[in-house]
Amino acid sequence: MKTSMKSPALFIALVFTGILLSSTGCEEQKARKAAIREGEVYFKSYCALCHGENADGKGDMASMLDTPPMDLTTIAKRRGGEFPEDEIARIIATAERTPGHSLGEMPAWWETLKRAENIDDPEVVRQKIENIVAYLKTLQKE
Ligand code: HEC
Repeated sequence: MKTSMKSPALFIALVFTGILLSSTGCEEQKARKAAIREGEVYFKSYCALCHGENADGKGDMASMLDTPPMDLTTIAKRRGGEFPEDEIARIIATAERTPGHSLGEMPAWWETLKRAENIDDPEVVRQKIENIVAYLKTLQKE
C-alpha cells in the first residue's frame, strides 16, 4: 500500500521537475535571442558603416580607409574554424590588433560605447560587447 502511494507522488514530482527545467531552458533561449537581437542593433548603428550591413567588410566608409575593414563573416574561417569569443570581444573593446593587422583604423569601442550610450556600469558595457560578439557568431560562414 505504502509503495503504491509513493510512486504516483514521485511521478508527479518528476513531471513537475521536467516542466520546471524545460521552462528555464526556454527562458535562457529567449534571453539569448534577445541578446543577439540587441547585438545586431548595435552592429547596425556602430559597425556597419565600415564593416557593411551584412558584416562582409563592404561598408560605405570602407573605401576611405587605408586598412580594409575586415569581413566579419569569416572571423572563424580565418582562424581555422574557431570563433574565439574572448579574443573578438577584446578586439572590439580595445581595438587591440591581431597579428598582421597593425595599422589600425578601428576605434576602441569600450570608451566609445560608454560615451555614446551613456553607460556608467562597466558590466553593462561588457554585456553590450558580448551581445555584439554573439551576433557576429551567428553570421559565420563555413
Ligand atoms: C571606422 C571604421 C570601423 C568601424 C566603425 C568599426 N570597425 Fe572593426 N575594423 C575596422 C578595420 C579597419 C579593421 C581591420 C583591423 C586593423 O587592421 O586594424 C577592423 C577589424 C575588426 C575586427 C577584427 C576581425 C578579425 O577577424 O580579426 C573585429 C572583430 C571588428 N573590427 C569588429 C567591429 C565591431 C563589432 C564594430 C562596431 C562596434 C566595428 N568593428 C566598427 C574598421 C572599423
